[in-house]
Amino acid sequence: MVLFGGRSGEHAISCATAAGVLRAIDRERWDPVPVGITRQGQWVVAADDPAAWEIIDGRLPEVEASHADVVLPMATHAREVQVLTPGEVPSALGAVDVVMPLIHGPFGEDGTLQGMLEMSDVRYVGAGVLASAVGMDKHYMKVVCESEGLAVAPYVVVRPGAWERERDALLARITELGLPLFVKPARAGSSLGISKVDDLADLDAAIVAAREHDPKVLVEQGVAGREIECAVLGGHGGDRPRASLPGEIVVRDTNRAFYDFDAKYLGEGDVELSCPAELPAHVVAAVQDVAVRTFEALSSEGLSRVDVFVTPDEHVIVNEINTMPGFTPFSMYPRMWQESGLGYAELIDELLTLALE
Ligand code: DAL
Ligand code: MG
Repeated sequence: MVLFGGRSGEHAISCATAAGVLRAIDRERWDPVPVGITRQGQWVVAADDPAAWEIIDGRLPEVEASHADVVLPMATHAREVQVLTPGEVPSALGAVDVVMPLIHGPFGEDGTLQGMLEMSDVRYVGAGVLASAVGMDKHYMKVVCESEGLAVAPYVVVRPGAWERERDALLARITELGLPLFVKPARAGSSLGISKVDDLADLDAAIVAAREHDPKVLVEQGVAGREIECAVLGGHGGDRPRASLPGEIVVRDTNRAFYDFDAKYLGEGDVELSCPAELPAHVVAAVQDVAVRTFEALSSEGLSRVDVFVTPDEHVIVNEINTMPGFTPFSMYPRMWQESGLGYAELIDELLTLALE
């Protein structure tokens, strides 16, 4: 089952990821069943047509309930959904050999779906419940990384209601971080709700924007460094996971504060995904080491993309981990493997094989 869409703000990105997989998967070997999850949480059998799910000319694809002919019993709001093939419903999930949960963000990449699949005794690609939940939460991701001796950017957590209750104390701690700051929803992706703050006068607005995605907000010190990413694969059955050659996000657009949603998916601005990154061999090795250790610190499995900063004095600082990274053929995760000698279709094969082990 190629499962995509979902309830998070990254719904359309997940559709694009599924389009890439549906286009490339080796159909001699696998027989994919595309299932979309609507923004409301309904599970529907979806078109097996990659073109329906690609981002074309800025049109963001969307799973709609009108595509439905099967709804799985665990689907939220299932009461509201018409079930056209009742005999197949109870067995629909059990009938697949393995699920590729190609869903980014909350209710997909955060352990909730993984828990449902565990409960249903269904095999699935990628990280389990704990790694997904920790990886989704930028606060706990940092707590776990720090406990394993991995460097992260200094930060202040603004818990739900705390900005109103203890603003002065928080502001004092935030001021100590210096400028610029990055204000982020703790659990979101694709840069949704993130603001760069160059002036503390803009902090309130940034916190309000982040809270639209999550009531828990992180205020982070901006790190001066190159934005490097590294793909990690494996981690099953006692073998150490492997790291790819790193890639780099190069933002040349001086009007763009950072690599935001529009630059990521709508092709706006002068941003290059450079792969492999031009780095000396010892820095490549250091990035790969940090990427694998981050993957292991979270007990991730299958795949993760670890995003780091490399500072001018060559320190590697973990920015975040994505346990279900963007996975279109143009996304960094598959491109980094391509540059490392593992093609897109082979990568899909390997992930499915790992999940079935
Ligand atoms: N959250 C997006 C999909 C990524 O990390 O690639
Ligand atoms: Mg992320």
